[in-house]
Amino acid sequence: MSFYQIWIRSFYDGNGDGIGDLYGVCDKLDYIASLGVDGIWFSPIYPSPNADFGYDISNYRDIHPDYGTLEQFKKVLDRAHGLGLRVIMDLVINHTSDEHPWFLESRKSRDNAYSDYYIWRDPKWKGETRLPPNNWYSLFEGLAWEYCPEREQYYLHVFAKKQPDLNMDNPKVREEVKGIMRFWLDMGVDGFREDVITYISKHPDLPDGVPFLPVINGMRYYKDGPNLMKYLREFRAVAREYGALQLGEAPMTPVKTALTYLTGEDRVLDMMIQFDTMMADCFLTESLPLPFSLPKLKRAFSKWQRELSGKAWNALYLENHDHPRVISRYGSEKLWRESGTMLAASYIFQQGTPFVYQGQELGMTNIRLGSIEEYRDVATINTYHNFRSRQSAGKRLRRTHVSSRESSRTPLQWNGSKNAGFSEAEPWFAVNPNYPEINAEKEEADPQSILNFYRRCLRLRKESDTLLWGDYWEYFPLDRHLYVYERSHKGERFLIVCSFSEKARSWKLPKGFSPEGGELLLCNYADAPTPGRLRPYETQVLCWKAE
Ligand code: GLC
Ligand code: CA
Repeated sequence: MSFYQIWIRSFYDGNGDGIGDLYGVCDKLDYIASLGVDGIWFSPIYPSPNADFGYDISNYRDIHPDYGTLEQFKKVLDRAHGLGLRVIMDLVINHTSDEHPWFLESRKSRDNAYSDYYIWRDPKWKGETRLPPNNWYSLFEGLAWEYCPEREQYYLHVFAKKQPDLNMDNPKVREEVKGIMRFWLDMGVDGFREDVITYISKHPDLPDGVPFLPVINGMRYYKDGPNLMKYLREFRAVAREYGALQLGEAPMTPVKTALTYLTGEDRVLDMMIQFDTMMADCFLTESLPLPFSLPKLKRAFSKWQRELSGKAWNALYLENHDHPRVISRYGSEKLWRESGTMLAASYIFQQGTPFVYQGQELGMTNIRLGSIEEYRDVATINTYHNFRSRQSAGKRLRRTHVSSRESSRTPLQWNGSKNAGFSEAEPWFAVNPNYPEINAEKEEADPQSILNFYRRCLRLRKESDTLLWGDYWEYFPLDRHLYVYERSHKGERFLIVCSFSEKARSWKLPKGFSPEGGELLLCNYADAPTPGRLRPYETQVLCWKAE
């Protein structure tokens, strides 16, 4: 399997209002199928006030009017299935929108049918001063508590203020979740990507976190919480009835913990979105940038490959809607084509299910907007302001360029015409000015393009049992420029060689590989390679057949 991720607002506008939608998706399904993927993951397309662009849901059983209707969704689903594409939906159940009817009811009083749907606590009093129940920060916006005068209580929001956390300890809330799952599965959806699923069980006492640690100080009390397994088992039972796929998002979850969710007969998730491979150029989060370190990236890759081997299955990715574009991070915008193609080979041939985020297959790069006012994302804007006492405005803007997840949310670049062919109307968000060079139409016509390289990688992977099932082994782990890994199965051996260097480099085959026997199956340069040399960002896939 392999998946293509659609962040619909910027995918393709089918009805000319400047916003991507399901009509646009319908028009582009053949394109998606042409990549060689087997499925689509839709980031949320439900009704939402868009405080967090769809991750704040106000109705779980409908489609956002910006994107179409349920009928239109069914049409997309059927057409996708007809093309052999599975469809998984984003299931966002750690929180809802504060405009969800449950919350509108819940906030009215302490004794209504929905009053226990969310996490409400009394204030703490210091003399006359009203204080929040604990000292947690939210991940997106100030403190994690918001006061509600009607109830004279605070509600918890681990993300933005408009994203109140659901109280999963309430069995009624869990029944709602199961109902939502059934609603979409009955329609024919094939599974879910489960948003921050490891956050849904909170420590019952909600204790104070470390005071001097900003943003994540409460995390140890809401991540991997005491009842998480119990709740996930309940959801698993529903998914099992339908044979549905469950891909869980698990920020900051170490591999050992991941194994508890992913292994054994009673595993509760099929795959997990880990964050380790997103940290090769930062400390914990992209908003604390560091120079890119290949050894760090390789350690993350190999750790997950090794630890899950034979026990669980990896989700492989280098981009999604929460991270800046990978060429701008781990590759080079100057050596754009070379590094974009090499990065594809660096992860698609590992063991697991590769995910490709819209525009990644074209080598789209980070946008750099001229002022913070042009950004729309709540997390980006707040991070910018959080650093105000420590950094100048110019420095913060440059930091935003490299680290904002919004750098990767610009409209997809379909062709060289107005608005990159994304829409006739003014697009809802800035188009990257590099669209005349980087766009799908141009890359279709170029056999050496990043787009066509992605197609070749995905096809090769699908056709080879070794690339699907084979064991993983890494060579030269300490090398600061080369990433070389092997996949082997029943005597057949693949070697994937990736240079992360802007310069030409010499290299040697690892011991045990004869230069004569190896067949070159894929290379990102048109001219034949020179033995012992790698050109800038060169990648080669070599194969030694079983004897
Ligand atoms: C996940 C989503 C992200 C969202 C957050 C809150 O991390 O991927 O986009 O902002 O959860 O729902
Ligand atoms: Ca539209």
